[in-house]
Amino acid sequence: MFTTKDLAKFRAETPGCQKVVHFNNAGSALPPEPVLHRQLAYLKEEARIGGYEAHAKYLDEIEATYSAVARLLNANQAEMALMENATQAWNAAFQAIPWHDGDEILVNQSDYASNYLAYLHHPKKLKISVVPNQDQGDVNLEALEQMISEKTRLIAITHMPTNGGVLAPAEAIGAIAKTKGVLYLLDACQTAGQYPLDVEKLQCDMLSATGRKYLRGPRGTGFLYVRKACLNTLTPYTIDLHSATWTGEQVYEIRQDARKFETWESNKANVLGLKMAVDYALDVGLEPIWQRIQHLAQVLRTELGGIDRVKLHDQGTVRGGIVAFTVSGYTAAQVQQRLQDVHIHVSWNGVANTYLDMTRRGLQEIVRASVHYYNTEDEIAQLVKALKEF
Ligand SMILES: Cc1ncc(COP(=O)(O)O)c(C=O)c1O
Repeated sequence: MFTTKDLAKFRAETPGCQKVVHFNNAGSALPPEPVLHRQLAYLKEEARIGGYEAHAKYLDEIEATYSAVARLLNANQAEMALMENATQAWNAAFQAIPWHDGDEILVNQSDYASNYLAYLHHPKKLKISVVPNQDQGDVNLEALEQMISEKTRLIAITHMPTNGGVLAPAEAIGAIAKTKGVLYLLDACQTAGQYPLDVEKLQCDMLSATGRKYLRGPRGTGFLYVRKACLNTLTPYTIDLHSATWTGEQVYEIRQDARKFETWESNKANVLGLKMAVDYALDVGLEPIWQRIQHLAQVLRTELGGIDRVKLHDQGTVRGGIVAFTVSGYTAAQVQQRLQDVHIHVSWNGVANTYLDMTRRGLQEIVRASVHYYNTEDEIAQLVKALKEF
């Protein structure tokens, strides 16, 4: 756990903390100062000497972003691609799988809308099977194992959903996927920067994430991990002169590393901001971050549980920083607005973000208060007080 001095330092380095109570970390977290400074300084340099010239000047630092994200995941930098968001990263992997009509995808109940839309939208007729939850909201691992057949082409798991704190048992799922020899794609959009991700323990073949949420990086950043052993079997949906080389009138060669999923142009100020954010998170330490987030989320759930008109909606044995609730007599949007009026930031979700989960649990909408390690018990008390005054 962090000391009082550590927390004071984290907050002093987070300009947003002085202004607002930010419980929208699952949307986009407050960046620490070094992230903001790196982005601004690089943008100034681009304006001063030109975009390509700045790129050349800071090439080593841009390259070091790959090793930073690889370190975050215990991966190799040749297995990392930098993308502009998690959806792009997820799709780069998903669309690269050689799909056939009738191939089956196993998904968990809390699957994210954009992933599920990609299965539905795919030109091949893919069978989507939803792994049932146990009563307390955890993925039923036995059912998952039994559902795997020769038609199962992919296990696609959302590690932590957008609408609650339940953490999927991603390592146990990885062990099953490995034993059965099925490809495993993990959507770690909400867990990157919150939970100590380790692709060797997860045994996932592909993992997608964003920079702006729990990693506290810039908006417009994301990354994809693809296990070296899988790289050859996946063909990028889009190629360009960065991911492939035009070697003859009828021929071209696709590069071998995970950068074959990238395109040439990207926002280098954002890339450097992402590197800073990852370095910062690694310095703070992912284990203590995860412990602190779980602690604060539990304090918040306990406090909210004491307010009559508040109903909590989180499920699962292991729960992270996303706290889902509703307030009777108020729509989720009204709750968000009233809290916003007193400078407390939460967000809300309707059915369409996590259709399977919301409909199966009979939920129309939830308010989402997502805590980060830089939040405090005092901020939680402010949120609780504001809700009591409704
Ligand atoms: C679980 C999950 N997966 C994927 C995404 C999509 O991420 P992005 O908006 O970076 O594409 C989100 C965004 O909220 C998410 O919560």
